[in-house]
Amino acid sequence: MPASASYRTVPDDPEPDRVRRITLLLLLPEGECVVAADGGPALSTSDVAAGEHWLYDTTLRVPQQTHGFRIQGMRTVAVADLDPADPAAGLQVFGFATGAPAGREVALEHLTPDRLAARLAAAGDPVGARFVVDAAEARQARTDAQTAADNLRWQAAYLRADTPWGQSGNSGTLEDWERSRRPVAEAIERDGTFLDVGCANGYLMECVQAWCAERGIAVEPYGMDLGADLIRLARQRLPHWADRLWVGNMQTWTAPGGLRFDTLQVRPDAVLLERRADLLTRLRADLLTDGGRLIVTMSEPGPYGTAPALLEQAGFTVAGVRGHVAWADA
Ligand SMILES: C[S@@+](CC[C@H](N)C(=O)[O-])C[C@H]1O[C@@H](n2cnc3c(N)ncnc32)[C@H](O)[C@@H]1O
Repeated sequence: MPASASYRTVPDDPEPDRVRRITLLLLLPEGECVVAADGGPALSTSDVAAGEHWLYDTTLRVPQQTHGFRIQGMRTVAVADLDPADPAAGLQVFGFATGAPAGREVALEHLTPDRLAARLAAAGDPVGARFVVDAAEARQARTDAQTAADNLRWQAAYLRADTPWGQSGNSGTLEDWERSRRPVAEAIERDGTFLDVGCANGYLMECVQAWCAERGIAVEPYGMDLGADLIRLARQRLPHWADRLWVGNMQTWTAPGGLRFDTLQVRPDAVLLERRADLLTRLRADLLTDGGRLIVTMSEPGPYGTAPALLEQAGFTVAGVRGHVAWADA
């Protein structure tokens, strides 16, 4: 039996140590497929390199190399046995990854899933064609709960990082972290409380307090995150704030005792595209003080769904923009 004959859709990720190869369909947030132009690869495929974790390493590395594409999230759709006669040969995982071109010089083309599936079928790749159809269906069927579960998988990647900013999901240098996150502190113009929605290990809470203090502004930081292990780590790192760190889902969480905050920071790309404006509206209604400030970060790079555009879509009047960070007052 050829490997392709064992292709089958699956509801979840397989055991990590069985995964030897990945094939990703790269999607823009709106669902269009990104393929390499001029006869380059449509799908992003590679073996898992020695020492790599297939999800935390390979799915980030390979789309950069094949398509100059930076992924934000990945969902497993199907698997195939690399050698159906030998289970020890391991699995090829097929999944879709959403993200955006990251500026590398790879000529890209955008196609609907239907057109890409037809192109792959015509080129003699029926498994690729079937996978694109399966991936498009899986993307359409995504739920909030599934998206949250997908996000939670990355908690382990944060926990294994050896820098505080790495434990907050930033894989760059300290300078990269500052360049990316200082705009959050620059958006704060008066003393008050600050809630980091999706605070990971709490490093942004610390940094925002310190960066604001440089400008004579006193900030009392609070944090919440989906990941219980991340909140445990944040409490260990910041024991003096242990009672200001909570586990919850940003789509539903309210603070103990109905507490509200003078400033909130959120990265709405944690939820489905079509839920982002509602997320901002509900954060304002449930967690922000009257006249409080909502700071929105949309991950770089991103021509798609900028922070100011999202704030406007949610009915806010944008009060300031700095790079990929924008803010508005309630
Ligand atoms: C990139 S980190 C952000 C760290 C820091 N707040 C910052 O902005 O730099 C994103 C965090 O959001 C959390 N997260 C993802 N989905 C979430 C959800 N639905 N509710 C709460 N937190 C969520 C993740 O666990 C992760 O720790």
